[in-house]
Amino acid sequence: MFKTRVTELLGIEHPIIGGTMQALSLAEFVAAQANAGILGILASASFQSKEELRDEIRKTSSLTDKPFCVNINLFPMLMPVGIEEYIQVALEEGVRIIETSGRSPAPYIEQIRNGGAIAMHKCARIKDVRSVARMGVDLVEIVGFECGGHPSAEEVTTLALLPQAVDTVDIPVIGGGGFGDARGFIACLALGAEGVLMGTRFLVTKECPIHDNFKQAFVEAGETGTVMVRKTIEAGRVMRNEISETIFEMAENEATLEELVSLGAGARARDAWVKGDVQQGLISLGQIVGIIHDIPTVKEVVDQIIDEAAEILNRLDRLQVASR
Ligand SMILES: Cc1cc2nc3c(=O)[nH]c(=O)nc-3n(C[C@H](O)[C@H](O)[C@H](O)COP(=O)(O)O)c2cc1C
Repeated sequence: MFKTRVTELLGIEHPIIGGTMQALSLAEFVAAQANAGILGILASASFQSKEELRDEIRKTSSLTDKPFCVNINLFPMLMPVGIEEYIQVALEEGVRIIETSGRSPAPYIEQIRNGGAIAMHKCARIKDVRSVARMGVDLVEIVGFECGGHPSAEEVTTLALLPQAVDTVDIPVIGGGGFGDARGFIACLALGAEGVLMGTRFLVTKECPIHDNFKQAFVEAGETGTVMVRKTIEAGRVMRNEISETIFEMAENEATLEELVSLGAGARARDAWVKGDVQQGLISLGQIVGIIHDIPTVKEVVDQIIDEAAEILNRLDRLQVASR
C-alpha cells in the first residue's frame, strides 16, 4: 500500500489518477477506475448541456460509492456551456474533487473551494505550477513532453520537469506523461510526486469505450507510434496514422488554420473512433504506448502496478545492500 497526501486528500486507495479523456471518460469507465481504488475523472467537455453532465454524474454515482472527479476544460473553444454553470452542476451533484486544465483556473478556484470541493489543476510548465499554487489550488498535476494530449511547447520531458515542480511548491504534486506500469509508478514517486497520472495506459483497457480496432493498433504501435502535431487547435501528441501524418506535414508547410481545422475536426475524429477507422481518427496518445502489449481491465492494470511496485522496492533494497 502506498499512502501519500494525495491518497489522504482525495480519499482514494492508491496514488494513481486516471487521466481525463474527452468523449471517452464516461460513467462506466470512470466508475471502473473509482472501484479499482484510483481517481477516475469525468470529462465535462464531452457534454453539450448541463443536463447531460448532470445525468452522467448521477450515472457514475450509481455505479460506485467511491470518490470521483469532474474535469473542467478551460480551453476557450471546448466548453459549450458557461464554465461556472458546469462547476455548479458538479457541486450540486456532490462531486468533491474538481480538476481544471487548459487555461488559468484563477477565476474559478473560489467557486470550487467555497462549494466544498478540492481544486486540482493540470499544467505543463513550472511557471504555471508556481502560479496555481499561489492561487490556492490544493493539488497540482504536471505533464511532460512524452504525454498523450497537450504537453507544453517548451518540450521539457517529465523526467526533468517533475523534480523541479516538487522543488517549487509545498502542495502535493502529481506527475504525468510517460508512466504506464509499476516501474513508472515507482520512478514517479521517486522523483518526488505523491500521485501518478496515467492516460495512455488506461486508454488501452477493456472498459475504455473506444473501438477495439484502436486498442489493437495501440498494442502494435511501439515507442515511435505518436507524433506531435502543431499549429492547429488540436495541437498535441497524437497517434501516428494517415490523418496525423497529413496534418503534421501540412502544418510544417504553412497550411492555413482553416485547412488544418477541417482535416482534424473533432466530429470527423469521433466518427472514425466509432467506426474503428484507425487511419482517419485523430486521437491523443502518449509515447508510453510502446510498453503496452495487452488489453486488461482497469482493475488488472491497477493491481499489477501495486503488486509489482512492492517487488521493485525489494529489488532496489537488495541492490543497496549489495553495494555496501
Ligand atoms: C485519448 C486521450 C484523450 C485525452 N483527453 C484529454 C482531455 O480531454 N482533457 C485533458 O485535460 N487531458 C486529456 N488527455 C491527457 C490525459 O488526461 C493525461 O494528462 C495524459 O494522458 C498523461 O500522459 P500519458 O498519456 O503519458 O499517461 C487525453 C489523453 C489521451 C490519451
